[in-house]
This record gives sequence, C-alpha cells and structure tokens, in this order.
Amino acid sequence: MADSPTSRFHEKSREGRIDVVRSFARLSKEDVEILKSNGGISFAEADHMVENVIGTFSFPLGIATNFVINGKEYLIPMVIEESSVVAAASKAAKIARKHGGFTMESDESYSIGQIQVVDVNIKSAIPKVLKASKRILKLANSKSKTLSKMNKGAKKVTCKKLETKSGTMLVVELLIDVGDAMGANVTNTMCEGVAPLIEEITGGRTVLKILSNYSTKRLVRGRAIFDKEEVGGKQIVDNIIHAYNFAANDPYRAVTHNKGVMNGIIAVANSIGQDTRAIEAASHAFASKDGRYTSLTRWKKDKNGNLVGEIEVPMPVGIVGGIINVHPMIRVCLKILGVKSAKELACVIGAVGLAQNFSAIRALASEGIQRGHMRLHAKNIAISAGVPRDKIHEVASKMIQENNVSVTRAKEILNSGD
Ligand code: MEV
Repeated sequence: MADSPTSRFHEKSREGRIDVVRSFARLSKEDVEILKSNGGISFAEADHMVENVIGTFSFPLGIATNFVINGKEYLIPMVIEESSVVAAASKAAKIARKHGGFTMESDESYSIGQIQVVDVNIKSAIPKVLKASKRILKLANSKSKTLSKMNKGAKKVTCKKLETKSGTMLVVELLIDVGDAMGANVTNTMCEGVAPLIEEITGGRTVLKILSNYSTKRLVRGRAIFDKEEVGGKQIVDNIIHAYNFAANDPYRAVTHNKGVMNGIIAVANSIGQDTRAIEAASHAFASKDGRYTSLTRWKKDKNGNLVGEIEVPMPVGIVGGIINVHPMIRVCLKILGVKSAKELACVIGAVGLAQNFSAIRALASEGIQRGHMRLHAKNIAISAGVPRDKIHEVASKMIQENNVSVTRAKEILNSGD
C-alpha cells in the first residue's frame, strides 16, 4: 500500500498540519477557527456540566497519521499528556499499511441493563419473567421513541440467580441495542422504567436498576500484519513474541502491557468525549474473563515470519448524545475522524489500541523505551527553554548526546550558538 497522503505531517508547522487536516476532513472555516482557538468550552457551559466549577482545563491534541482501517484512510485525533504516544501510533500504522493496514470488526452496540430483585421466590419468579418477556420489552422500548423508530432498543430479557451473603437474589437483564449512542442513559431509563412491572410479575422488591459496564456484547476485534523487515528483523519479531508471552502468563506484566494498549484507546476516546472510565473498567474485567488477568492482545508469526497482532476488547462508545453534541472541539475531532457509526468508531479505537501495543513492545523488545522518550522529553525541554523552532532539533540532540537534559543547559546551548 502506498505512503499515506498525509506523510511527513510531523515536520510541518501548526498551520501546515491544520491545513492537511482541513483538506483531508473537509473542515469548514468555522471548524478551523475552533481548532485554532484551542476550541474549549466556556465557563458557562462547563458550569452546566458538573458541579462546583471554577474553570476549564486543556490537554494536547495530536493527530495520528498513516492509519488504514478496513481499507479506509484515517487521521486520528488523540488527546493525551504522555509524549511518544501519538508518534508511536503513527509509526505502527505506517508499518501495518505495507500489508493493508488494520482489519477490524465490531459487534452491534448491545448494552446490558440489570435489575436486582430481592425478597423473591426465585424458582417461580424466573419462568414468570421469561413468560412476560414481550410485555417487559414493550414497556422498556416505550421509554425510547428514537431507538424504537430505528428498530433498535431492548431485544431480550434474561434472568440469573445469585447466592449472596444477603440472601438469594434474582437479576433480570435487558439486552439493548443502543445504536450509535454509548447508551448508558437510555439503559438506565429502561431499567428504572420496567422495575415496577418486574416487581408486579415476581412479587419481589427491586433494588438496583442500572447499566452493566461489563460490555461483553459490544466487542471490537481485529488484526494487522507487521512486516518482519520493517519491524527490525527476525530477532526483534521473536523478542516481541517473548514479550507477549510474558504478558500472557504474568498479571504483573499484563497490566503494564494493557496500559500500553489503553494509551492508544483512551487518547482517541478522550478526543471525542467518550466515557473513558467505562472503556477502562470493561477492558480490564474482560482481560480477566478466563479467571486470570492477561493480555488484551495476542502476537504470533505468520508463515512468512511476519508479525501478526490481534486484539479483542469491549468498546462501549457512541457518536451521538452526551457531551458530543455540546463540545465544539469534540464535534471537530469527530469530523476529522470521519466515522459514520458507533461500530466504525469502535473499529478505529481498537486499531489504535493494537498499534500502540505494537510500538510499545517493539521498543521494549529492541532498544528500550527511554531513548525515544528522552528524545521527545529533550524537545519539550528545549521548547520550554524558549528555543526557536528551527533550533529545537539541534539543541535537543546536543543535550541527549551530553546526557544533560535541562532547561538551563538548553538556554546555554542556545546562547553559546554551539
Ligand atoms: C508506558 O506508558 C506504556 C508501556 O509501559 C507499555 C508496555 O510496557 O508495554 C511502555
């Protein structure tokens, strides 16, 4: 596959980068103004969102380049404070595009709502609930005209029995197709809406009525092939597989391995206003689904010795509702991303998670991560020392060579004209 039409993005000025993004995503003048104005929300808007507001708070917005996912080119906004993450994602995507990029697929956006019932005769309650499924679903769906119109909404009722220290309880679960929304609100509304009917049917008492964040019915999965030569040769490919097997077998390593995956997932999710806590909670629970915490990705070699990466992870995300409709920068980021559905968004985020994991373990399995980190750190230090743009590379390189990275040294190098 040819180089990305947006290659050498990092070498451009801010204006140049915005211009590439503008023409790629067909941004309007107003969108560009939002990007240039650092596009936050006003105090008044923030004050409506949460409580006790005293201001707003900004983060770097970077663009990951080179991504081809299911044959489509993407520029991917990432909001993150950690250096190297955006560069690492872009580099991984560049290597992956040689063999066609990322092949991803996503489940339908099913959320799970739970209604807890206590003081109940479970044995007789379960068949009664299942028999009344249609009535329960009808009532649930009456709570969302939007989903009903799209033929989405609550689709199935299931029951489970829990033996607990506070007695045997029934949990009634609603499986809800939430379409292009993340769906927490509608799920909670439906659960609360059907609770009185469940009480009437079971003769029990409902306590909690709430979405489950263990989003096992909205998984994204996919793979990419990383060419062995571009990865750095057979030895590094083999080391990456050793690194994977370390994570696959040791929870202490797996948590760090998955933290690398999350660097990518959460940075993209941040840029488009997703509930990142929901993604994190679901992902880590999913990593333990077989009884022991393990890697969210898998790595192996194909018959040609190329590295093959796979990921499977819950992705409760949406492109409508919540902050998405209110925050100007999120609206522009979504436009840059160009996704048309929550499922497409899930595919993009999953691909970035896999890319990020590839770059992290490739660095760890070869030169280590500190060299790359130091390079960016030195650049950041040079910038904060007031080094002009055209001298940043030179000053940063000298500080690394001398193993002396500090604002004082950056100023000295600049002033001495060395
Ligand atoms: C750092 O933010 C993430 C890594 O620790 C991930 C990993 O160790 O795989 C580099």
